[in-house]
Amino acid sequence: MKKRLEGKVAIVTGGGSGIGEAICKKFAREGASVVVAGLPEDPVEDVAKEIQQEGGDAIPFTGDLSVLAVAESCVELAVKQYGKLDVLVNNAGTFPETNLLSEFSEEAFDYLLKNNIRTAFAMSKAALPELQKTKGNIVSAGSESGALGIAQNAPYGGTKGFIHAFTKGLAAEQAQNGVRCNIVAPGPIDTGWTHKETGPMDAQMEQMVTKGTLMGRRGTPEEVANVYLFLASDEASYVTGAIFPVDGGTLIAKGPAGDQASESMKKQPDGELILKHSKDSHTSVRK
Ligand SMILES: NC(=O)c1ccc[n+]([C@@H]2O[C@H](COP(=O)([O-])OP(=O)(O)OC[C@H]3O[C@@H](n4cnc5c(N)ncnc54)[C@H](O)[C@@H]3O)[C@@H](O)[C@H]2O)c1
Repeated sequence: MKKRLEGKVAIVTGGGSGIGEAICKKFAREGASVVVAGLPEDPVEDVAKEIQQEGGDAIPFTGDLSVLAVAESCVELAVKQYGKLDVLVNNAGTFPETNLLSEFSEEAFDYLLKNNIRTAFAMSKAALPELQKTKGNIVSAGSESGALGIAQNAPYGGTKGFIHAFTKGLAAEQAQNGVRCNIVAPGPIDTGWTHKETGPMDAQMEQMVTKGTLMGRRGTPEEVANVYLFLASDEASYVTGAIFPVDGGTLIAKGPAGDQASESMKKQPDGELILKHSKDSHTSVRK
């Protein structure tokens, strides 16, 4: 049976850990040649080596992909090594701190802009000329917080809202060149970010994000990578400008967030409408 990315060449940013690592491994198992791209301190060489040991094809690239010249050299490496580029996965991102905006540091804000926004801008700009040649596609990492916002990390949610609109804008302008652009919007995923021991979430936030899913659990990086695989493959040939939530139902969950509200917040104000009429539909009767 033909593999789902047979003969394709992909760059995965932030490929050295978490969701990006799962994407690199899944893509390679499905026949893609993968450039595992990340910061110099990321274990991109390890991931590329593990893929090679499994019989897959991968090479590492290290550099700060928020810098356009570095992004261009990443694309150049893919083309030099493999002759073309079919898929760009804009997965790189950071989650540096959780704080109310009053406490949120300017440094963390700038760090978010650089790593979550500039990386997608620089890599997309660098990759598009090659993607136009192959009629390839871009899949970018959004987030349920890009749609809903996230308390104690409002700037992070803002960067993901940018990714949603930016990628849809690219989809709109690149369709005429045969390039598709889509977004995967994960909920809480089982990476370092969603554990209090390894990320900036405290115990309460860690509990809230998982209780906010309908499934009451984190997703695995592999469950997210499955959706990246579909969107990157030719199976998604009629899909562009779409946001695919992979969030265990977070976007539709009413969630237990109200548990966190203070008693005064929970008190419902007296309504002015009596809501009792001669003909009541069952929905308008206050119980
Ligand atoms: N983990 C979650 O719960 C979750 C939820 C929603 C969205 N996401 C998104 O998924 C993506 C991956 O998250 P993750 O949990 O796997 O985190 P992660 O920290 O394991 O992976 C992100 C990778 O991006 C790399 N990176 C950051 N800035 C970079 C830069 N300037 N140049 C090159 N590489 C850079 C990091 O070094 C890291 O290896 C992020 O974009 C994140 O916003 C994650």
